[in-house]
Amino acid sequence: MATHYHLIISTLIILSNILPSHQNHFATTPPLPILPLPSYSQLKWQQREIIFFHHFGVNTFTNSEWGTGKESPKIFNPKGLNTTQWVDVAVQMGVSLSILTAKHHDGFCLWPSKYTDHSVIGSPLQDGHGDVVKDFADAARAGGVDIGLYLSLWDRHDYRYGKTIAYNEYYMGQLQELLNK
Ligand SMILES: *[C@@H]1O[C@H](CO)[C@@H](O)[C@H](O)[C@H]1NC(C)=O
Repeated sequence: MATHYHLIISTLIILSNILPSHQNHFATTPPLPILPLPSYSQLKWQQREIIFFHHFGVNTFTNSEWGTGKESPKIFNPKGLNTTQWVDVAVQMGVSLSILTAKHHDGFCLWPSKYTDHSVIGSPLQDGHGDVVKDFADAARAGGVDIGLYLSLWDRHDYRYGKTIAYNEYYMGQLQELLNK
């Protein structure tokens, strides 16, 4: 009788070790993610920390924040322009992305767009053969810095601005040009 009693007690102790406290031996599993999850590019953007935004164009030569659109392309006359130097500074600072105002609100284009003559074509820079966007993109690629190009929606120069379809076509055409730089 005493042996049976002992056996029953032992069995209860073993069962109590296996069953009720079973889950306590494992770490709590993490909760399932709640949508929406950030995309790869959103996470990358969060981790960039510092970026450059080069506001460069006719405003550089009129010392203003916004241009009127009436500036002559002739005033865009950078001497000793060296986009590699911009990128070198970015690399030294740990900057992973540099943005350039390919076109700001004044409508002046830093690349020779085939859709307008309001651009470096009319500038003394390399006698109208300059292309600041290409120089910048080439230098950034060589330096391992990601490239951002700013194409202003507001355009205070172009006659198509305000004519929805004509301007959208102009804008999309320029976007294509820039995405192929
Ligand atoms: C451009 O700047 C870099 C320094 O960042 C220098 O090494 C290079 O010689 C410069 N190029 C010209 C043409 O001055």
